[in-house]
Amino acid sequence: MEKLVFATNNAHKLEEVRAVLAGKVEIHSLNELGCYDDIPETAPTLEGNALLKASYVFDKFGMTCIADDTGLEVEALDGEPGVYSARYGGEPHNAQKNMQKLLEKLGDTENRKAQFRTVIVLKDTKQELFFEGIIHGHISKSPSGEAGFGYDPIFVPSGFTQSFAALGSDLKNKISHRALAVSRLVDYLNKKQT
Ligand code: IMP
Repeated sequence: MEKLVFATNNAHKLEEVRAVLAGKVEIHSLNELGCYDDIPETAPTLEGNALLKASYVFDKFGMTCIADDTGLEVEALDGEPGVYSARYGGEPHNAQKNMQKLLEKLGDTENRKAQFRTVIVLKDTKQELFFEGIIHGHISKSPSGEAGFGYDPIFVPSGFTQSFAALGSDLKNKISHRALAVSRLVDYLNKKQT
């Protein structure tokens, strides 16, 4: 069975990808390889950061590697917070501060259009392939809902009236940016196996 490394120690992301590739591709986490390095995420784009992580692991272990990066892109803020989503409100990472800063910057702006974008890169000896998942929506005036994480309480996906955090994880995990990017990666890996 083909083996690949997922350059993450996020158990949730790992399980999501493992579940859909069970029996086809063996997925290893960084910890399982004995890698506890703090891999730099210093690129100015989501694609660049995903590639930094995948290349770091590929160079160190010589194994096919996937890595991802996600950002919330708000139209009226020229795509902010984008690649800086995790620490938008300052260090250390704090979801409440991130949302507060975003809501303050947007103020009463009428155009509240936003999208979550996930980029997954797969790097092997021959190539670097990118898989993208986008979900469109808008930023609400105030947070609502308990589920999820990050900006979920203020992101309302198109076609719905409630935030990701209010809609709940089951629905979110079916329609999200990450689910779409993962399904594109899985389609590719499945085709490669046949
Ligand atoms: P990462 O690339 O998955 O680490 O995501 C970077 C940052 O984007 C996170 O720290 C969150 O602030 C935000 N983010 C990523 N995915 C989501 C999501 O599904 N919902 C809400 N916020 C997210």
